Amino acid sequence: MKKTTVLALTAAMLLTSLSAAEKKVEVQKGIKMPYMEFPMKQGKGMYSTKGKCNMCHSWGYVLNQGPQSKAFWRKKVIKMIDVFQAPIRNEDIDEVVEYLYANYGKRVKG
Ligand code: HEC
Repeated sequence: MKKTTVLALTAAMLLTSLSAAEKKVEVQKGIKMPYMEFPMKQGKGMYSTKGKCNMCHSWGYVLNQGPQSKAFWRKKVIKMIDVFQAPIRNEDIDEVVEYLYANYGKRVKG
């Protein structure tokens, strides 16, 4: 084989592998994650609660609990702070608990 032929073949092989790599990137770009929306009930403290709770997980975690007592919601909020380091200030706990209880509350004393 002539030297130029070898060079041309090598260049052709390089180009083929480059375009294969490009194709792979295209495929990865095409993957779309489904967006699951769990709407929150409108109410006092909704936006504040949304900002504090939705940064780590969806609102589905709250909906899954079903209607609960105020004591239950307070415990959950405090668990999020103590166990998972949720950045919620002490003075904001009441507002979040009030929102949760008013909209996802079970009417029992607590
Ligand atoms: C710093 C991250 C973080 C924040 C902020 C956060 N959570 Fe969580 N939450 C978690 C993790 C981690 C879990 C456990 C996930 C698992 O077990 O799959 C969880 C689980 C839950 C669960 C399921 C029950 C349980 O006890 O595990 C509920 C209910 C919940 N969170 C409510 C809330 C509410 C309400 C807020 C806002 C006040 C909130 N979370 C904010 C991290 C967070």
